[in-house]
Amino acid sequence: MIICLPAATIFVFVLSYTGKPMEEFEKLSRHEFLKQIGIKGGALFAAYCMGISMTSCSVEKGVGTDDDFTIDISKGRFRELSKAGGWIKVRNVVVVRTGADSFAAVTSICSHEGENRIEYRPQENDFRCSAHGAEFDIAGSGKNKKGRKGLTLYQVNVQNSILRITLPKKSES
Ligand code: FES
Repeated sequence: MIICLPAATIFVFVLSYTGKPMEEFEKLSRHEFLKQIGIKGGALFAAYCMGISMTSCSVEKGVGTDDDFTIDISKGRFRELSKAGGWIKVRNVVVVRTGADSFAAVTSICSHEGENRIEYRPQENDFRCSAHGAEFDIAGSGKNKKGRKGLTLYQVNVQNSILRITLPKKSES
């Protein structure tokens, strides 16, 4: 998990918490900085484990920043998609490997009440929202009353280990 704080927020925090100017902290290592602002012991260890970034804000490595993005299924947690039935959530999209060469991708934001709780169910080969039970088929169509509005389906193109996830552009009318 990466926690991103705007530089201005850090600056105000440093001044109000420590009374020291920001320039003093720019010369410190992250470890020293965390210690000086009072994060010690277990909290310091937890901050490292959580991967808190104090220097820059970035999205997950290998993932694009616009509506369309690519992921490399040979790397990291995306390797879950190298076997049929594997699925992941990334950038509010649920991506599923439905077969040897087939993939599906839908928004993870439920059309019922907007909860970000859509998950894939391998046994049923469908999607379900854990908030109130809306169900959707693999093409995003609603299967029950709460799922009647369906889910936005993304296009998935595969080239070697790279998946390109594309939000279909709305046609102009
Ligand atoms: S928000 Fe998903 S079922 Fe209600």
